[in-house]
Amino acid sequence: MNLRTKLEIFPDVTLHKVNNNIYGQFIEHLGKCIYGGIWVGKESPIPNINGIRIDTIDALKNLEIPVLRYPGGCFADSYHWMDGIGEHNKRPKRLNIWWNQPEKNEFGTHEFMEFCNLIGTEPYICLNMGSGTIEEARSWVEYCNSNQDTTLVKMRRENGAEKPFNVKYWGVGNENWVCGGNMRPEYYADLYRRFSTYIRKTGGEDIKLIACGSYPSFIEWDERYLESMKGAESLVDFISLHIYTGWTLPCLEFTETEYHKLISDIGIMERNLKRAINLTEAYSKKDHKIGVIMDEWGTWYKEAVVENGLFQQNTLMDALFTAVSFHTFHNLGESLHMTNMAQTANVLQSLILTKGDQLIKTPTYHVFELFKPHRNSSLLYHKLEQPKNNYKSDYDLLSVSISKSENEIFVSLVNLDLEDTFEIELDFNARDEYSLKEIKKIGAEKLNIHNNFDEPENIKIENMKLSSQESNVIKIGPISILTLTFNKSHK
Ligand code: AHR
Repeated sequence: MNLRTKLEIFPDVTLHKVNNNIYGQFIEHLGKCIYGGIWVGKESPIPNINGIRIDTIDALKNLEIPVLRYPGGCFADSYHWMDGIGEHNKRPKRLNIWWNQPEKNEFGTHEFMEFCNLIGTEPYICLNMGSGTIEEARSWVEYCNSNQDTTLVKMRRENGAEKPFNVKYWGVGNENWVCGGNMRPEYYADLYRRFSTYIRKTGGEDIKLIACGSYPSFIEWDERYLESMKGAESLVDFISLHIYTGWTLPCLEFTETEYHKLISDIGIMERNLKRAINLTEAYSKKDHKIGVIMDEWGTWYKEAVVENGLFQQNTLMDALFTAVSFHTFHNLGESLHMTNMAQTANVLQSLILTKGDQLIKTPTYHVFELFKPHRNSSLLYHKLEQPKNNYKSDYDLLSVSISKSENEIFVSLVNLDLEDTFEIELDFNARDEYSLKEIKKIGAEKLNIHNNFDEPENIKIENMKLSSQESNVIKIGPISILTLTFNKSHK
């Protein structure tokens, strides 16, 4: 069925900037994320730059990922960073206890920094608080950021990095309520006070310290932690939530009901983020604001288990989930300082999948690419007549986000309906005139369509002919994402 609705755009009413950092990513020493997906080693027949695969560099560079979290995850609280520096053949092999695999330590601090450089992203390091010492954590900061005449700095220089890496974001432990030490929030806060005192003193005010925040079934963690940090708030720049969505769902053979549940759970993520934002505002001081980050999020389906290195397929449903989630994050502005989807390659909701020398882009990758014009633009006010949702689910069937850069307006629309096409009458409420320049689309017949190594382009970005649409009535088919770019022309 074709249903009419109306979208009113207000190009002169800007709300706030679309925060670039929400398009961050996360990599961990887990399954084939780093070894296979990023690192193949210098001797590999797979084309590489100093061991880092070139196809991965090219694919990720194109996305201009703002920030990349590393080395975990649960792995972070068992990682000893000195294992991963110096000559490769002298690096120890350890047991990666969380993901039940050997850790050869070929990819360490310098390799991570080089990778960040090659793809043009800002590094974010998560320190080991669960099983490491304060001195070990503090000295990693010195090794990376100091320029003084110390033994650690000399070591860094001998290992090839004359200049400091100047890492800005430092996480103090990961999920310390479970894999990071099974702590109570009060105990974590006490330990955090000790760790962050020395980390801050080493890194100075230029570094941002990120505390472990809650997950959805333990939300009281945040308040109990913040309460215990009273008097030492300046040591906390952000708390970071982890919110995965999906869990009991299968990645390919899901039902319609399960699809509705996944989309409607974006609302849980939104409410949870807003709760944390309000809470941190309440605990912020006049001269020191505590902000919110979500440094792990995305879909996690039942197929992704330790035995397969948390691998799962990524379908059109993941693309729709990602697009609507980003619309939600846009609305939160700078109150949500950063998000990092888990994980970039071959693990959970990946951007890329690799097999030997092959690399394919997932539907989620294409959403990151499609939404690039939104980033750092100004979010615009709009009014949308929402079509009626007959699915007994509580979300809006049409999701929209509109942003404006100097000469362009960029509209992204998501139709979550399984059958109906919406005809959207566009009304520009503005001094200037805007003309439609470009339409792009991600969509397919069925929700579980995905890319694989035999058919790598089942889901991709399609450029649509402008003649396929009237200029002021846009048609968007079921289960699809459309972006419209308008150019400004003065009246
Ligand atoms: O991303 C996979 C794992 O999920 C991370 O290691 C951990 O922090 C979370 O539970």
